[in-house]
Amino acid sequence: MITPKVPHVIYGGDYNPEQWPEPVWAEDVRLMREANVNLVSVGIFSWAKLEPQPDEYDFGWLDRLLDLLHENGVMANLATATASPPPWLARLHPESLPVTKDGVVLHPGARQHYCPSSAAYRERAAGLVGRIADRYRGHPALAMWHVNNEYGCHVSECYCDASAAHFRRWLEDRYGDLERLNEAWGTAFWSQRYGRWDEILPPRSAPTFANPTQQLDFRRFSSDALLELYETEKGILRGATPEMPITTNFMGFFKPLDYWKWAAREDVVSDDSYPDPSDPDAPVRAAMQRDLMRSLGGGDPWVLMEQTTVRVNWRQRNAPKRPGMMRLWSLQAVARGAEGVMFFQWRQSKAGAEKFHSAMVPHSEPEESRSWQEVKRLGEDLRKLDGLLGARGEAEVAILLDWNNWWALELDAKPSTAVRMVAPSHSRAGFARSVLHSCYKPLFEANVPVDFAHPEADLSPYKLVVVPNLYLVTDGAADNLNRFVRDGGSLLMSFFSGVVDENDHVRLGGYPAPFREMLGLRIEDFVPMAEGEENGIVGGEGSHTCDLWADLIHPEGAETLASFAEGFYAGMPAVTRNTFGNGVAYYLGTHPDARYTKAFLQGVCAEAGAQAPLRVSSGVEVVRRRAGDVSILFVLNHGEEAVDVELEGPALDLLTGAERVGTLRLEPLGAAVLREQ
Ligand code: GAL
Repeated sequence: MITPKVPHVIYGGDYNPEQWPEPVWAEDVRLMREANVNLVSVGIFSWAKLEPQPDEYDFGWLDRLLDLLHENGVMANLATATASPPPWLARLHPESLPVTKDGVVLHPGARQHYCPSSAAYRERAAGLVGRIADRYRGHPALAMWHVNNEYGCHVSECYCDASAAHFRRWLEDRYGDLERLNEAWGTAFWSQRYGRWDEILPPRSAPTFANPTQQLDFRRFSSDALLELYETEKGILRGATPEMPITTNFMGFFKPLDYWKWAAREDVVSDDSYPDPSDPDAPVRAAMQRDLMRSLGGGDPWVLMEQTTVRVNWRQRNAPKRPGMMRLWSLQAVARGAEGVMFFQWRQSKAGAEKFHSAMVPHSEPEESRSWQEVKRLGEDLRKLDGLLGARGEAEVAILLDWNNWWALELDAKPSTAVRMVAPSHSRAGFARSVLHSCYKPLFEANVPVDFAHPEADLSPYKLVVVPNLYLVTDGAADNLNRFVRDGGSLLMSFFSGVVDENDHVRLGGYPAPFREMLGLRIEDFVPMAEGEENGIVGGEGSHTCDLWADLIHPEGAETLASFAEGFYAGMPAVTRNTFGNGVAYYLGTHPDARYTKAFLQGVCAEAGAQAPLRVSSGVEVVRRRAGDVSILFVLNHGEEAVDVELEGPALDLLTGAERVGTLRLEPLGAAVLREQ
């Protein structure tokens, strides 16, 4: 359960009543009841209304609003209102504004215009949060706390002088003395040796590549600087309400923040998710994001905090979700561990930058709109799913993800800058090439359940561990992976792994030094491919191509499963297999085409014994959640055609109440949630 104050699947959205005259609120709560809304996030952008001038507070409206929600049985996910400072903060403290790498000051007028290291922002935010916590700690509508909003979304790092000073303090904590910093940063290179702490700066725009370890540490620091803000607010809230769950909303695969570190400090993981309805891979991307959220919380339930009913307004072209998509994608989130489905936002704005972003209540005549009908239907559906509260996913495959590696892998001055961990949501071409997507998609298509895991996590629950491009690897992680295979696990690693240590220094001793024995090979050098360049790979079924990268592999015990077809390295291994201890380690020394990767990954899963919960035709997603002897199967049809699914045993359809045996028919974009008997 997400919060004991809402012992149901949560349903609701961001509610911004300050944008509306109070008489509209009565209509809001009437509609909330009609849609079975049980929780709304309130106050996210209310700082200017709650504290119109420094130390002048106006809580009257929020008192009335929370009372009204309570009278109508709607609970509040009360925000700390610190996401967008009021204009007076910048007037009194211009130094609180963030500064970019190029020295450009980001001014008020949009949102999130604060430097994470600003003393004035920190002090003023803490003051406000203290007031809110004190005032509402005992309010009967309070069900959970929503800290700030999407930390780092627009401003994830700041290069101002206060940030520079804060960065130096962070570095002193990390390294203790300058000698160690000089060593870690490799400052013997290009005459970069530091003699005094105050010579050290954030990696501001420089003539050419900034020191890679400086860049990496600045990323670590920037994630930590925002985390300090979260921790401060959380501390205040915890002091006031020791039992009340606290969250801050994530943004999926968001590169700037190390979400493993963040999630460990949250009571509940929550996420904002805006798949692009015009992207054929949207269901895959969304599933991957949902699996990440479940994994970040160690398998505990999480909340889909924001999604849109129909359309966003921040892409170049904002395609709508077709009828049925919103319901299907919401149920997908629940299938993959969510116990709350919420939207940005409740009522569509009349003014401001988001007036063309869809909401639960559209601009006019909600009752006549298809989106409201869908909102109501989803509310009815979710009400029937209380029986799944506490049921968990059961993955036997883990894909490893470490933000430190992600940051280091994508720093400049590499053999190839085309190797990316995750493609941005607008990038279709990037999707196919991004290393995480290319190994997640085949598993999604085969309906093999997957967790994400940190390379230093306990991997013993898994049969197969997939290691995409673990370029940066700590000693602890290297030991962990070697142990996993030695103890009988199956592991699949892809190219450019095990190359550097946590300081981004090359691990000498033949690439990939820490995994050479486990993989039974040595890599002499890397061959990055040009844009559009391909090679062939020979071995396995049919003929295949590869692109992006080739490793020059010399086997040292590994068996060659496929080799390169052309070029000066023709005949050298591209894909290998090695037994190590009681386990087996596969290596992909290139980026094969999607067909090869799919067959290969699915073969490796089969050999490791990792399976789908049910055999279904393509385009159908099946996911199981289980708690004790309760077993719930989600069957989701992402396709354009109706499909028949053969069930393995009798089941109760929780959404319709019907008993199901044998064949289950699902309409296009149809979904069934089955309690297996
Ligand atoms: C999120 C944000 C919301 C709203 C939404 C629009 O990033 O938290 O406040 O802006 O996007 O899609």
